[in-house]
Amino acid sequence: MSTPPSIQSRIAELYSAIEEANHDYYIKDAPKISDAEWDALFRELKELEEKFPHLKRDDSPTERVGASRKERSGVQDGVTFSDVPHREPMLSLANALDADELRDFDSRVEKLLGQSAPERSYYVEHKFDGLSLELVYEDGELTCASTRGDGFTGENVTANVRTIPSIPQRLESPPFRRFEVRGEVILSFAAFEKLNTERLALGEPPFANPRNAAAGSLRQLDPEVTRKRPLEFFAYAALSPEGLLGERQSEMVKALGKLSFPVQQRTEIYSATDPLFLDRLTEYFLKMTTERDTLPYEIDGLVVKLDQFDHQRICGTRSRTPRWATALKFPPREEFTTVNDITIQVGRTGALTPVAELEPVNVGGVVVRRATLHNEQEIQRKDIRIGDTVVVRRQGDVIPAVVAVVTAKRTGSERVFTFPMNCPVCGTPAVRDEEDGVGVRCPSLCCPAKRLQQLRHFVSRKAFDIENLGEKLLEQLISAEFVKDPADLFTLTYDQLLTLDRMADRSARNILDAINARREITLDRFLYALGIRQVGEKTARDLAQFSGTLDRFREITDGELLSIPEVGEKVASAIQQFLLDPSQQELLAKFGQVGVTVKPLVREVRPDGVFQGEVVVITGTLSTMSREEAGAAVTHEGGRVVGSVSKGTTLVIAGEKAGSKLKKAGELGIPVMGEEELLIRLKGAAS
Ligand code: IVH
Repeated sequence: MSTPPSIQSRIAELYSAIEEANHDYYIKDAPKISDAEWDALFRELKELEEKFPHLKRDDSPTERVGASRKERSGVQDGVTFSDVPHREPMLSLANALDADELRDFDSRVEKLLGQSAPERSYYVEHKFDGLSLELVYEDGELTCASTRGDGFTGENVTANVRTIPSIPQRLESPPFRRFEVRGEVILSFAAFEKLNTERLALGEPPFANPRNAAAGSLRQLDPEVTRKRPLEFFAYAALSPEGLLGERQSEMVKALGKLSFPVQQRTEIYSATDPLFLDRLTEYFLKMTTERDTLPYEIDGLVVKLDQFDHQRICGTRSRTPRWATALKFPPREEFTTVNDITIQVGRTGALTPVAELEPVNVGGVVVRRATLHNEQEIQRKDIRIGDTVVVRRQGDVIPAVVAVVTAKRTGSERVFTFPMNCPVCGTPAVRDEEDGVGVRCPSLCCPAKRLQQLRHFVSRKAFDIENLGEKLLEQLISAEFVKDPADLFTLTYDQLLTLDRMADRSARNILDAINARREITLDRFLYALGIRQVGEKTARDLAQFSGTLDRFREITDGELLSIPEVGEKVASAIQQFLLDPSQQELLAKFGQVGVTVKPLVREVRPDGVFQGEVVVITGTLSTMSREEAGAAVTHEGGRVVGSVSKGTTLVIAGEKAGSKLKKAGELGIPVMGEEELLIRLKGAAS
């Protein structure tokens, strides 16, 4: 069969692109393309090789795992490791990107298993985003540790691995004379951030992600450097020429845990005896897609493995991946793109925030165009220049951020950004933020940009939720001086609106209707809408639940603020500053004058509250709150507050000068709780 030359050259291109990417990833620990881009190249090559098998070379990247032997031998970046052949190859995993691909995987397994297919079950583990490690134990002693390398031969990193505290050096009762434990070495997000901060301070380039940081930490010439990096290890497999550790993957992992290896706790089993097992597995995958944000370390997907070793054996392996397992990959959170420009955004508190204007890039299904650069120091620390290729990261609901610069891609035409001395909108000289000493803000009270952001926040969905008031319109209202503060929105007139650009009768009426529909608002939304520094949605709700009414909130004391779970010094002081500002008090009063009603919040009851099932009597004088407030807090936490002590009472909360009720509690043997303990309980409930 003759092949068009274009296909041949595309295959050659893919070979070298994948080789180069593998080298950057495995050898330099500094990738220049994202995992998603690599997957796309790999898939394309695999498809072409399947279509034109005669063009496939023995040394094709699709046949190999990791970096090639040739590349790994000798000195790499000044670091030399000796070779360690793996007794059994260390394989990679094929990917399934969605529910359909998972079904395809299962159909293949079902076919391979034939008669035993109905008994199949899948053991589902986290796919740690670290680097794989093999540990060899002989007569209970750790004798060798190696990286995966090309799958057949890895690098000897024994000396470094001996510095990882969670890896046992010797086993009390080893199950076999010789056996190998495999697992993943990772660095937590916290350790990664700390390491990068230190590197930036020393003028060293930061690692792009925790995986690279873990790899870079393990592949060190000096074990003392590795010792300082808090690497962690999770075991997921044990192999021995003498036999198997149990009959199933799940049993093996349990046995590894008993041998004192760290193993992951969050595993699941899905069995084909349940007709909906694949749906349930998919549901779990979707749940983990968001829940992974709450884990202390990075996982990039789930690994689905046939649980029974018998079944694994029947399915067998391909050259680089097992047929009995697949990785269900999460949508990527990181991509590479270029910084087209750096601009300054003026926030509602006047903070001047530098923003990277990016070449639009799809990160896990969302197009990212801008990323926050936080402040001037951050730009300097990371040495981000206009024109740079950077790693952007989108995690959960957090605004996308630039993680690191790919300095290897610099051409010399990149430009250093100079931070402006003045507010780019109103021209007022910027001042250093006293609170953090890092940020810079526009101090002007009438900066239109500040006003605009305040208003945008005020009308936003979680605040007043006023539709029809877009950015353009708000800009016009500010420049016409119809609106100086958010309360002015409620005095806007039809005639005023008609004077604005392209405003017709119908839209003016719609706008007024939308505003009028929001003249009544609950206290939590109202407090959030005010845009008080440090007060987000959650704190606003806590404040509203604590104070009940707006009048009460206006008089809230420092002590009261600090008694609210999750309100610390910083938040309390921001709220006090707001309340002590006469112009803010004026604004609060103005809302009443313009016909805005703030409704007290009806407390909801937390189903898993810390006072669930308790019948509580509150007596005496509390120093940080009133008895009513304490009662409200107890009710919120699921308790029932009653007036007098009886046999049915399960708890008495006693403040200063408690009298007869406290005495009665003693007579009836009812537990008594002081104010301090109450506050601890409530704080604990919130954390
Ligand atoms: S099993 C034969 N289990 O993912 C099966 N691997 O993309 C191969 N990984 O090389 C390994 N968590 O470095 C397995 N729970 C887990 C894993 C896991 C992370 C890594 C491992 C492997 C790579 C394959």
